[in-house]
Amino acid sequence: MNLKDIIKSLRNSEHYSIRLIYYFLKPFWLARRFITDAYYRSAVITGLRSGNKYYQRSSFTKTDRYPVVFAACAHYLQSNSHPHILSFGCATGEEAATLGKYLPGAMIAGTDINEWCIRTCRNSYNDNKRLRFFNRHSDEFNNCGGFDAIFCMAVFQNTANRLNKNNETAKYLTFSQFEEELKALDAKLNNGGLLVTDNCDFSFTDTAIAVHYKPLVFPDNLIERDRPLFDRNNRKIAETQHIYRVFVKDGK
Ligand SMILES: C[S@@+](CC[C@H](N)C(=O)[O-])C[C@H]1O[C@@H](n2cnc3c(N)ncnc32)[C@H](O)[C@@H]1O
Repeated sequence: MNLKDIIKSLRNSEHYSIRLIYYFLKPFWLARRFITDAYYRSAVITGLRSGNKYYQRSSFTKTDRYPVVFAACAHYLQSNSHPHILSFGCATGEEAATLGKYLPGAMIAGTDINEWCIRTCRNSYNDNKRLRFFNRHSDEFNNCGGFDAIFCMAVFQNTANRLNKNNETAKYLTFSQFEEELKALDAKLNNGGLLVTDNCDFSFTDTAIAVHYKPLVFPDNLIERDRPLFDRNNRKIAETQHIYRVFVKDGK
């Protein structure tokens, strides 16, 4: 058992006195973690700086996490030998690097709100000249645009919306924030470009800009996800989602 598990077992004890020990030790354990764990420290600092604009706080990701989606997007973009791609909420960069393999001529930008993620991306992919990474609060992000595809995977969600016992209403990331972010990303996407979302608390089709988009036709674009769906008013309307992931911008 590591220290984290020992502390958790104290919290779940049947004995009040042992649970008290947990509440006494927890601040020391968090302080130790803040000092020794650079990722945790950065997540805390990002939370303090960005508040409710810091949506999904976990930076879990992996190489080739969405192979069906990536393959369909690469097929759609095949006539463009040098597409410009944005990975929004890129975490430690595996998504951007994977997209580089599916799209060998692409220039790929990754952005994240957590500066530790951006540092990690730059260190890991320093030798790949087709990849660049910047903080979403940077001028580079504000000024970037002209993308042929924007991927927003597992970013527009907040774990508390999904897992809190009383989650009839989405409070920690709201629909208006989701819609505002997508409007801003829409302005960075070329006509005919792809907007890709997955693992969200809301449906892209509920946003005002969705009228300018059509789902890309490919098997498994419509997917079932075992997670709650919230509507424009932040009310939970389903425990399971049936959502399209890849949309083509028609720009009319
Ligand atoms: C679960 S990771 C997703 C990584 C990758 N896109 C994937 O699907 O595997 C979510 C990332 O979104 C980032 N994030 C959270 N809020 C953000 C925001 N407002 N703008 C940009 N990135 C954000 C987090 O720091 C985290 O690294």
